[in-house]
Amino acid sequence: MSLASFPALRLRRTRSAPWSRALVAENVLTPADLIWPLFVTEGDGGEEPIATLPGVSRWTVDRIGERAREARDLGIPCVALFPNTPRELRSEDAREALNPDNLMCRAIRAIKAAAPEIGVLTDVALDPYTSHGHDGIVDAAGYVLNDVTSEILVRQALVQAEAGSDIVAPSDMMDGRVGAIRSALEQAGHVNVQIMAYAAKYASAFYGPFRDAVGSRGLLKGDKKTYQMNPANAEEALREVALDLAEGADTVMVKPGLPYLDIIRRVKDRFEVPVFAYQVSGEYAMIEAAVAAGAGERDALVLETLMAFKRAGCSGVLTYHAAHAARLLGA
Ligand code: PBG
Repeated sequence: MSLASFPALRLRRTRSAPWSRALVAENVLTPADLIWPLFVTEGDGGEEPIATLPGVSRWTVDRIGERAREARDLGIPCVALFPNTPRELRSEDAREALNPDNLMCRAIRAIKAAAPEIGVLTDVALDPYTSHGHDGIVDAAGYVLNDVTSEILVRQALVQAEAGSDIVAPSDMMDGRVGAIRSALEQAGHVNVQIMAYAAKYASAFYGPFRDAVGSRGLLKGDKKTYQMNPANAEEALREVALDLAEGADTVMVKPGLPYLDIIRRVKDRFEVPVFAYQVSGEYAMIEAAVAAGAGERDALVLETLMAFKRAGCSGVLTYHAAHAARLLGA
């Protein structure tokens, strides 16, 4: 600041009172910005806590409707579903992903019955259904085959749409699958089923607790670096987004969240489309670990991180803190 402008120019002036801070706030966070990921499991009347995701549980299908009503009552517009498929139903070819009565499809129908006002987002990827924990079909060398996998993903997306999914979200990172899914949805008459592409999904160390939650961590052979992106790359993320949009994606996602805010901002600046972030399981666990260690205060950490996504350009955020955050924001 030049001496000439002092003291006429004081940036602290608009910060000096709560009413003024509210008036000049550049971004707002509301429950409508949140998507709540939910884990489902077999059985009845049950809630299974997940050790590495303290405060998050897997719910049985008969109780998932309660969560949907809770989301609706809190003003959360959409939930995302992830199944913990029983071991005996996992196979090399992931055939359970195509069963119209699988855990995922039953959960979709339960949510639609309980709270038809909210959206249901379903993950399109084979990792909860494969015996090796990969998102696709592997060859003898363990390489995930692109085109063979895409054909199954198309059928998986159709099965989910038939069950009532509003947004299919391919999280597998196969090339060309968005276009293939879009044309299959059109042909089947599901013209209003959206595609949220996990466009820039990185091979990240932050997915560990999620893999516990869907039961794939112990099964996973090797890593996912031949299909998920290298954390060193940003321009490649822009190419991924451009391709997914050209293939018909309605919205795009960047994942993980906080370590990749630069990617969110670059995507938002380059493409005029709704961008979403996934604040993933390892990010949630880090916040909870900080709180448990007395190193931070949960409510403030949650609201600050979620606001950071809005500032970076997000239309919304998938977060395991969704219900808690919505409660704080509604208060
Ligand atoms: C699976 C999938 C993953 C997540 C969402 N969908 C894990 C992975 O790619 O291994 C991670 C979400 C999280 O960590 O919260 N395709």
